[in-house]
Amino acid sequence: MVGNKEVANKKVALVTGSSSGIGYETALMLARNGFDTYATMRNANKSKEIEEITKKENLPLRVLKLDVTDDRSVDDAINNILNEKKSIEVVVNNAGYGLMGSIEDSSLDEIKAQFETNFFGAIRVMQKVLPIMRQQKAGTIVNVSSIAGRIGFPMGSSYVSSKFALEGLSESMSYELEQFGIRILLIEPGVINTNFAFVTPKKALDTNSPYSPIMNKMQENLVSTIANGTSPKEVANVILCAITEDSPERRYLVGNDAFELIDARKNSTDKDFEKIIVGNLLK
Ligand SMILES: NC(=O)c1ccc[n+]([C@@H]2O[C@H](COP(=O)([O-])OP(=O)(O)OC[C@H]3O[C@@H](n4cnc5c(N)ncnc54)[C@H](OP(=O)(O)O)[C@@H]3O)[C@@H](O)[C@H]2O)c1
Repeated sequence: MVGNKEVANKKVALVTGSSSGIGYETALMLARNGFDTYATMRNANKSKEIEEITKKENLPLRVLKLDVTDDRSVDDAINNILNEKKSIEVVVNNAGYGLMGSIEDSSLDEIKAQFETNFFGAIRVMQKVLPIMRQQKAGTIVNVSSIAGRIGFPMGSSYVSSKFALEGLSESMSYELEQFGIRILLIEPGVINTNFAFVTPKKALDTNSPYSPIMNKMQENLVSTIANGTSPKEVANVILCAITEDSPERRYLVGNDAFELIDARKNSTDKDFEKIIVGNLLK
């Protein structure tokens, strides 16, 4: 943990998707390190645990309702923060889930919903905070991408493409924002041990789907790899380090699996890398 309460002094941070996993740990990590933290979640009924810890440790953390797919909800939450604190220095766009299934089995509505949360959700929050950060002439936006923002996986086309889109968006936005003192960073975790929701497209539930054998293999793999995944506390720690860095990197990998995969990707041809993925995930 970086104990930089000095740096964090009076800085206001907003984290989306703080009800569990990476968002939950990040909100606590920021609050424990002196950030005035707004742990936002779409379902306020899930706030009991984080509120108990906040009270027990006397943390500068407040829970707010925010659904990243809802314009009104994003506006209300951010207006609320501005009324209370007058500034927002850090935003962590973390809310997300994974639609797992073949493109043929996924309806356009299911794919659009995936992008609505993972991609447009982050845009919705950024469009609301950018004018504030521009006025402040400072701000840090952390977009929680994934190793799946750099590498494709079987049955992951919708999720992977939403994260590739988030990567391209963030990289391009960095050129727009630098002149205003606003930084945009990407966090790329490997497999993390959270309750990460894998949503199965309706059509893929049909056991007669021609993609069932690959789906079953991937689902088997995911259950065991997530249980052995890196702790979300490690991701939270990387986020804290990145935002308190004087000159942060654009991208931060988290977890040994993420480093190994990116290394293999860099050192392999497309064909050889595809063989590695098939060998690891489908055999
Ligand atoms: N776990 C992994 O292996 C892994 C690896 C790489 C990247 N990631 C990324 O890390 C981020 C967090 O995932 P996690 O692993 O921590 O999973 P998680 O424990 O399921 O947390 C996801 C969070 O996103 C929230 N969320 C979903 N839709 C939302 C919406 N419309 N508005 C606001 N919040 C919403 C969830 O809220 P509810 O509780 O209400 O559902 C939950 O708080 C995601 O962007 C994911 O893609 C995860």
